[in-house]
Amino acid sequence: MDDDGIVVELGARWRAGDATLVLEAIHAAADGGVPLTLVHRGAGGRSLLLAASAEWPRLTCREVVRDTHAAFRPRPERWAHHRLLPAGRPMGPTGIAISGGLGGLGLALAARLGAAGHRLWLLDRRPVSGLALADQHRLAAVARATRVVVHQSDVTKAVPDSPFPVTALVHAAGELELHPLRDIGAGRLERLAPAKAAALRTLVRALAPGGLRSVVVFGSAESRRPHPLFGGYALANELVRLEAARLRRKHRGVRLVTAEWSLWSDVGMAGPSAGAAAAAGFATVPPDWGAQAAELLLDAGNSVPGELVLGGPQPTPDRPLAAIAGVAGSSVARDGRSVDRLVALCRPVRGGRHRVAGGRGTVVRAVVDGRAVATWTSPVHDWADRRPG
Ligand SMILES: NC(=O)c1ccc[n+]([C@@H]2O[C@H](COP(=O)([O-])OP(=O)(O)OC[C@H]3O[C@@H](n4cnc5c(N)ncnc54)[C@H](OP(=O)(O)O)[C@@H]3O)[C@@H](O)[C@H]2O)c1
Repeated sequence: MDDDGIVVELGARWRAGDATLVLEAIHAAADGGVPLTLVHRGAGGRSLLLAASAEWPRLTCREVVRDTHAAFRPRPERWAHHRLLPAGRPMGPTGIAISGGLGGLGLALAARLGAAGHRLWLLDRRPVSGLALADQHRLAAVARATRVVVHQSDVTKAVPDSPFPVTALVHAAGELELHPLRDIGAGRLERLAPAKAAALRTLVRALAPGGLRSVVVFGSAESRRPHPLFGGYALANELVRLEAARLRRKHRGVRLVTAEWSLWSDVGMAGPSAGAAAAAGFATVPPDWGAQAAELLLDAGNSVPGELVLGGPQPTPDRPLAAIAGVAGSSVARDGRSVDRLVALCRPVRGGRHRVAGGRGTVVRAVVDGRAVATWTSPVHDWADRRPG
């Protein structure tokens, strides 16, 4: 505790014990009615503070990122160009690994990728016999269309030898547990928080030497703005996003994209509640469209930013996939109208004020030109009348 309340300091990466430290600091700040500051050099933890603020509305939290870590330096002020539609032919048949491949999203993706002729290696903690009958039938249908190998394995620990050369990976293994931060035990948070990031590290380390070229990490929009009860889940997804950024720098030949989804409807961990959430106004991801988007993101021939938040304007499977702005205030636009909405979001409103997309004083603007979107991310005060260069 100091004059500014409670300060907790972490390092450049999330370590064992950090969850306990931050959780204790949150409790102490909430109980003592004092502000909480998290200082780190890349470890993360912002999502947990946001979840705590949702739970204790009077709690004041602040994150200070010491600027020694490349991922946290201000983004360069330059235009990023993203194609709205995949250019040219889809990627040719290849070997694709899906961690969490027997989960709701994994199976939806396997069906799409299998139909396109890719060989599939599904890695999951669940045994096939543990699947609901309908999912067993789904899996059998995929296996009739292409070669499918299933391995029961906990990918946080080790990855078995691949049954064929694997050039692409979808990391969808993850778990959802909902707990108020008031009640979550430090031990549980210590286990939940780093698991998804550890699994990504293990998978990339195992597959990179064998020719891995493209990775799509299934993250969650909760990592940006967690709802109450989602603190542990949000932190796991923040940490996997940060891990992907580290691995991107380490493995220059591997294209890593973190796709942070809102809820998928009908399938997966949110399937039962997605209908109600959509009715309440949440953007939900129809599985057909989500699988299509994931397939496009996996194709290293398509130009996309490293981190995407996928949700926003309601997508539907019959509209073509369009584009994507970068980290702060991302959105997905799939047709003329949703592109207009994306651009409108980024335009200054009356009197020269503009909408701040995301925190940290950044604004994302988009200029749409034919089949491409160019985005510009910069500090909020920098609203010049720029054109894509
Ligand atoms: N569904 C959504 O709306 C949504 C939205 C945003 C992000 N996501 C992300 O997308 C991914 C897939 O979600 P989903 O809805 O398909 O979830 P799901 O139906 O629960 O499937 C996830 C699968 O991953 C397995 N798994 C978890 N940890 C593992 C590990 N260490 N090693 C091997 N397998 C492991 C699970 O096995 P167990 O049953 O043993 O746990 C489960 O079979 C998750 O990472 C999730 O965070 C989902």
